[in-house]
Amino acid sequence: MKLEIKNISKQYSKSKFGLQNFSINIENGILGLLGPNGAGKSTLMKIIATISNPTSGQILLNGVDITKNPNRIREILGYLPQDFGVYPNLNAFEFLEYIGAMKGIGGPNLKTRISQLLEGVNLMEAAKKPIGTYSGGMKQRVGIAQVLLNDPKILIFDEPTVGLDPEERVRFRNLISDLANDAIIILSSHIVSDIETIADKVAIMQHGKLISLGYQQEIIDTLKNKVFEIEIDNNDLNTFKVNHLILNTIRKKDKILIRFIANEKLPDTMLCNATLEDAYLYQTKK
Ligand SMILES: Nc1ncnc2c1ncn2[C@@H]1O[C@H](COP(=O)(O)OP(=O)(O)OP(=O)(O)O)[C@@H](O)[C@H]1O
Ligand SMILES: [Mg+2]
Repeated sequence: MKLEIKNISKQYSKSKFGLQNFSINIENGILGLLGPNGAGKSTLMKIIATISNPTSGQILLNGVDITKNPNRIREILGYLPQDFGVYPNLNAFEFLEYIGAMKGIGGPNLKTRISQLLEGVNLMEAAKKPIGTYSGGMKQRVGIAQVLLNDPKILIFDEPTVGLDPEERVRFRNLISDLANDAIIILSSHIVSDIETIADKVAIMQHGKLISLGYQQEIIDTLKNKVFEIEIDNNDLNTFKVNHLILNTIRKKDKILIRFIANEKLPDTMLCNATLEDAYLYQTKK
């Protein structure tokens, strides 16, 4: 499967762009979208899910323009919007039956599939209670289950891990990683560690533009031998800031530990292994 996003722009108002000349080619596997608030992640996902039209540009799914033929993608799509709302009076089982019927899945297979999915997102016990009584993380898991209902080949999860505890994050990761061999999975987060553990490739976005794209290691390698740490006095921080690109600071008792970017080793600094978080901070701060 091949999804080609070609020069997509989304203009919300005269001076407000959600996306600006955005292009990316997406193939099977898990693509993580990273970017600060307002970067355009949700705008991109809505456009791919065909619930929002781009102002200009093309999206080709295996060569077919889905801005003109949206049903081509809708038939094979599962989508979790960032503001996923649920029907509080239905229980999880009923809600999934309802969505299933809308997606054209019915009969005895649907019931079996729903049970499998509820098992998968660990909601079997709560399945007969109204969704209105669920915690935030439990509602989110209902949202994850409805994405998977029709065995989609394109899965879009906007901030799927919001509200999930560590155990449920692992469960989510396991649930989708098996599907990635023959599906396109796109998920967004502004939490780097979530993307780090789940995604194969990472796209870093800012101000509606793509600023970095590659396998995680490729992105991290751009900072190879460039991340250092140094401990300095609190009083020296301002001077240090003027001359260096600081990634992170940790305050200690009367000192401050600084993680920063430099092209070569300075006296008293320690070379560190770069991380995806370093690369993300560097790309979005520089
Ligand atoms: N319906 C809208 N009308 C006007 N502007 C919008 C609309 N939706 C989004 N925007 C603007 O477009 C930009 C991109 O927003 P978007 O929601 O795509 O960002 P995001 O990366 O998903 O952010 P977040 O991490 O907060 O979810 C922002 O500047 C936002 O204010
Ligand atoms: Mg968003």
